Amino acid sequence: MSSRKLTAFAGIFPFALVTAIFAAAPTRITVDVAHPGHEVSPLLHGIFFEDINYGADGGLYAELVQNRSFEHEEHLFGWSTVSRGGAAGALSVESLDGLNAKNPHYARLVVSAQGKGFGVANEGFGGIALKAGENYLFSVHARGTAPLRVLLEDETGRPLGETHFDAPGMQWRTLDGIIRSSGTALHARLLVLATEVGGLDLDVVSLFPEHTWKDRRNGLRADLVQMLADLHPAFMRFPGGCIVEGKDLANRYQWKDTIGDIAARPQNWNRWQDAVRLTAPNYYQTYGLGFLEYFQLCEDIGAEPLPVVNCGMACQFQSKQLVPLNEIDPFVQDALDLIEFANGPVTSEWGARRAALGHPAPFNLKMIGVGNEQWGEEYFERYPLFYRAIKAKYPDIKVVTGAGPGVDAGDQARWKLAWDKFRSGTPADIVDEHFYRSPQWFLDNVNRYDTQDRNGPKIFAGEFAAHDGTAKRNTLRAAIAEAAIMTGFVRNSDVVAMSSYAPLFAKAGAWQWNPDLIWFDNTRVYGSPSYHVQALFSRNRPDVVLPVTLESAASPASEAGKAAPGLYVVAGLDRKTGETILDVVNATGGAIAADIDLRGAAHPAAEAHATVLTSASADDENSFEAPDKVAPRDETMKIPGASFSREFPANSLTILRVKSGG
Ligand code: AHR
Repeated sequence: MSSRKLTAFAGIFPFALVTAIFAAAPTRITVDVAHPGHEVSPLLHGIFFEDINYGADGGLYAELVQNRSFEHEEHLFGWSTVSRGGAAGALSVESLDGLNAKNPHYARLVVSAQGKGFGVANEGFGGIALKAGENYLFSVHARGTAPLRVLLEDETGRPLGETHFDAPGMQWRTLDGIIRSSGTALHARLLVLATEVGGLDLDVVSLFPEHTWKDRRNGLRADLVQMLADLHPAFMRFPGGCIVEGKDLANRYQWKDTIGDIAARPQNWNRWQDAVRLTAPNYYQTYGLGFLEYFQLCEDIGAEPLPVVNCGMACQFQSKQLVPLNEIDPFVQDALDLIEFANGPVTSEWGARRAALGHPAPFNLKMIGVGNEQWGEEYFERYPLFYRAIKAKYPDIKVVTGAGPGVDAGDQARWKLAWDKFRSGTPADIVDEHFYRSPQWFLDNVNRYDTQDRNGPKIFAGEFAAHDGTAKRNTLRAAIAEAAIMTGFVRNSDVVAMSSYAPLFAKAGAWQWNPDLIWFDNTRVYGSPSYHVQALFSRNRPDVVLPVTLESAASPASEAGKAAPGLYVVAGLDRKTGETILDVVNATGGAIAADIDLRGAAHPAAEAHATVLTSASADDENSFEAPDKVAPRDETMKIPGASFSREFPANSLTILRVKSGG
């Protein structure tokens, strides 16, 4: 029987790197424990947050009131009038003498018959979810002559709690109160009623659970942040994505709009209103989750922040608007100011703003993205202006540069132009590549960075996800294909510096894009199989790569079956624990038995720890009803020494950790 020997270590055999072997037994995996290779990028596994699929408003941002400032184009979207006990009145939306220029509209109640109260009700984002015994923090900007009664009711009209305020008077005042909910409800409403004849103006009507992530005011949903923290992300890219570009330039994301008093953050419509599927005409960005909150979130979960700024270009799939080169300075200045906001001393203009917002310590920003999925000469006329200005003032800041929306097929020309530019003198530190492709494409591209120029810019696989079939479900098949390509990321992590799956969040019933890493509704959350792949790689990132040699007896069937998926392996050393980490992906439909040799392991432990992600079928996915259908299972296995055997189940990712003493 002839044997094929395939070496998976870029440092030694840079051009002969094929790690897929096709189902044939016996299979031998040899890890050269005694000869560690290159360091693994400490930033290799991160997350990419975008306000898509109601990821921010209605999602991570814990505000329970939708359209709290009446700034939607449909100003009363989410609101309805309420008359209790014979009360009568009128509701209108006004803008004369509003709260401030950024937030001009407000609701006006004119009560003509007192009854038991006339006012408005808000339904939240598909209902307000309340828990019995929990406190909810209510606030409103109000003026007028009528006292207020604020109450929570469940979907049957059962009152769950209330608070009262005296008439605020003729100047805008902020009223704050706490309501304890006596019951649990999924589809509660918030009612704000004027209880006497007279008038009342209302703006920024807000309700938050008291318990947010770290119990912060204007905070984030603790369960969703916990999902992020559990990924141990090395970095977080934010705030997008396409929303950075905007459908047109007016719609672009401007970070300065997102800091300070929430009542003075101008609302913007969300570009994902315009998704190809499942349009969401009332999807807006309140910017309540703004740049201070993003930086704080990064700090909380130990992720390096990677903010992305608009580069003077709107979405090239949509309006294609460009800022003329002679008008681009303010855009460049925004990028410089952002770095100062993150890192500047409290004596600097933007450092002082950060301090005034409660965070005098710098955020220690190390990198910034310029543009999202931009391409073409238009990008390469604009991006270098940012690069040069950033480097002139902040030489240590790394700039992340776009390479277009994809890396092959229809996007090949755009991607090629970008790399031609980088090869011919256009400066770049880290290049952001995106691939949303079939699982098979992922398997076929496991080695795509094996031949990457080690002297060129680093790679950031900034958006990737395997799209399984036309339904693009979050299947185990997709997750395993992602795991396969990630073995290539680890093996090439001397040049692949960073990677992140996309999109991160999706709200059930309110999404525009699938597949997604984390699914949630107003009370529940679960990770997709892809989530577990990200978590397993991130939590088992080695410090250095170890050379791997794969040997298999090639059978006629495997020679013919080039389309058959295979086995993908990468290994490394965890210096802190002294463990050899072996990531083994079996993307075939059958189990693969392998002999494993940790060559040079001086004192292998008697036990190995294995974490296995698999399920009965490659089509399996998770759901609210079965959130752990596809979830990692831990086991220990006795091993006789440095050589042992193990079977890798069909459609699986196995992480083996062995104390090797090499
Ligand atoms: O992740 C969804 C979208 O995909 C991002 O906004 C964009 O960068 C890409 O096209």
